[in-house]
Amino acid sequence: MSHNEHGKEIIISLKNVGKSFEGRRIINDVSLDVYCGETFVIMGCSGSGKSTLLRLMNGIIKPDKGVVSIKGKDITRLSVEGLDEVRKSFGMLFQYSALLDSLRVEENVSLPLKEHTKLDENIIRIIVKMKLSLVGMRGFEEYYPAQISGGMRKRVGLARAIALDPDIVFYDEPTSGLDPVVGGVTDKLIRDLSTKLLITSVVVTHNMQSVFKIADRIAMIHKGEVIEVGTSDQIRNSQNPYIQQFIHGSPAGPIDFFTEDAGVTEGLGL
Ligand SMILES: Nc1ncnc2c1ncn2[C@@H]1O[C@H](COP(=O)(O)OP(=O)(O)O)[C@@H](O)[C@H]1O
Ligand SMILES: [Mg+2]
Repeated sequence: MSHNEHGKEIIISLKNVGKSFEGRRIINDVSLDVYCGETFVIMGCSGSGKSTLLRLMNGIIKPDKGVVSIKGKDITRLSVEGLDEVRKSFGMLFQYSALLDSLRVEENVSLPLKEHTKLDENIIRIIVKMKLSLVGMRGFEEYYPAQISGGMRKRVGLARAIALDPDIVFYDEPTSGLDPVVGGVTDKLIRDLSTKLLITSVVVTHNMQSVFKIADRIAMIHKGEVIEVGTSDQIRNSQNPYIQQFIHGSPAGPIDFFTEDAGVTEGLGL
């Protein structure tokens, strides 16, 4: 793995990454490094390209230009099998938990273990119980997703994301749709798991209540470009008008909320 000028190990590195969809440039010349063990937050308005950036980082989509390296390996050049191998060390928590409604909690969490390991069923059952206790969901093995609350479903999604002991966990809007208290509990859980299990976390969010609670460092993105990267303190004290406007949710400033395209549908939960 390579290191930055302060001797920090770099686990994910993006260099001049660009991505277009249907001729529209969605990610434009993004370069950034994520350090080993940190919680790195990508913040920005709806439609700014956060989810796309996350999907470029974890290899779900490939960039049109630039390089995405994980632990020093350029993942844009890997074969399907090579990429699958790298992605086994990733966990992913999707925006809407993405649990399978027809499967019980235990079956949902055991899916990655059944798919990617040859472990005996009894061992898998024990691992699932361990993961469920880490997220405070022991005892809910037999429940179906529809029988538990939104916050609990997020926890089960989190247990599934850490099922294979990942080095890196990617979170897309982990607190969206949760009330502030449950959101706060979820943020704390993400933070605790990262430190306890020595996981590198990359968290996409537009929820300002979450950002400063969980981040070691923050990247602000706007219209597919990185505006600034810094520690929580650096971003909080940044004089950049985009960052100030975003942090304070102010209608006045360089960000024109009326042209941010995805905001309306997200607000309605569509
Ligand atoms: N697969 C895709 N095909 C076409 N357009 C896309 C695709 N994925 C994202 N986009 C567009 O890219 C822009 C950024 O989307 P996204 O990364 O989801 O933003 P965010 O997560 O910040 O809300 C949006 O305008 C969205 O419509
Ligand atoms: Mg998104």
